Amino acid sequence: MKTLQDTTVLHNGIKMPWFGLGVFKVEEGQEVINSVKWAIEAGYKSIDTAAIYKNEEGVGQAIKEAGVPREELFITTKVWNKDQGYESTLAAFETSMEKLGLEYLDLYLVHWPVKGKYKETWRALEKLYKDGKVKAIGVSNFNVHHLEDILADCEIKPMVNQVEYHPRLAQKELLLFCKDNGIQMEAWSPLMQGELLDEPTLVELAQKYGKSVAQIILRWDLQNGVVTIPKSIKKHRIVENADIFDFELSLEDMAKIDGLNEDRRIGPDPDNFDF
Ligand SMILES: NC(=O)c1ccc[n+]([C@@H]2O[C@H](COP(=O)([O-])OP(=O)(O)OC[C@H]3O[C@@H](n4cnc5c(N)ncnc54)[C@H](OP(=O)(O)O)[C@@H]3O)[C@@H](O)[C@H]2O)c1
Repeated sequence: MKTLQDTTVLHNGIKMPWFGLGVFKVEEGQEVINSVKWAIEAGYKSIDTAAIYKNEEGVGQAIKEAGVPREELFITTKVWNKDQGYESTLAAFETSMEKLGLEYLDLYLVHWPVKGKYKETWRALEKLYKDGKVKAIGVSNFNVHHLEDILADCEIKPMVNQVEYHPRLAQKELLLFCKDNGIQMEAWSPLMQGELLDEPTLVELAQKYGKSVAQIILRWDLQNGVVTIPKSIKKHRIVENADIFDFELSLEDMAKIDGLNEDRRIGPDPDNFDF
């Protein structure tokens, strides 16, 4: 991981950037268009959206306006919970693709493990993958038991699991399970939505390395082998967040950050959600 363009190789051989921009809670229209364009200008290749973010059109518009060849980019979207099921997922995929204005998608994710539905949803993703409409398929918010359930009888193993991951929620067991099974883990809310920025240990490390707290956290993700997709709507932060390829945290400092784990979530619990 030496540059912003460096990639991990998914188990099907597809290259996925280690770093990208998330656009959760970024407004459709000029706000999302600007954020995505600034990111691409700054060298980002990967953009993470979802049907439920209601900004896929703006993401697509920004991609067109950025003028970068499509094949250089890595675009992720996700099927929302109410659309889960086989036929409804296939239809939701077409709607997302129309909004994005893309010929193919790089990564399609099952957004949450909706009980009684996610396996049918997964069959639809397998079909989209086999039809060549999406380069890679994966899941999001899956715990070990959800993954075991999918792995028990899937035809194609998920390539990615995108989960809440930051120094307060280090997810050691899940990360190990994903690594053992060739599933790339990806961090959502890597900055704990801004809540960790004045944590004293992180502030001290930021001073030591001459970096910001956000940069220390994002570097910790990468050194743990976790893809990361921080969100910002501010140009200077979009640039700052990606400037993490010129330093390395020592093993001792990695361990200090590991020590901040409290198994504490900022988002919903995948074993107990009702949406
Ligand atoms: N699969 C899922 O269920 C799921 C759930 C949540 C999120 N996600 C994905 O993960 C992405 C990231 O997570 P997130 O948006 O929840 O939170 P996040 O990236 O942890 O934090 C974003 C917050 O931090 C601020 N911020 C960003 N960079 C900063 C910096 N350098 N210094 C200070 N503050 C900074 C942003 O404010 P400004 O915008 O004002 O800069 C925003 O308030 C999402 O956008 C989405 O793509 C997926």
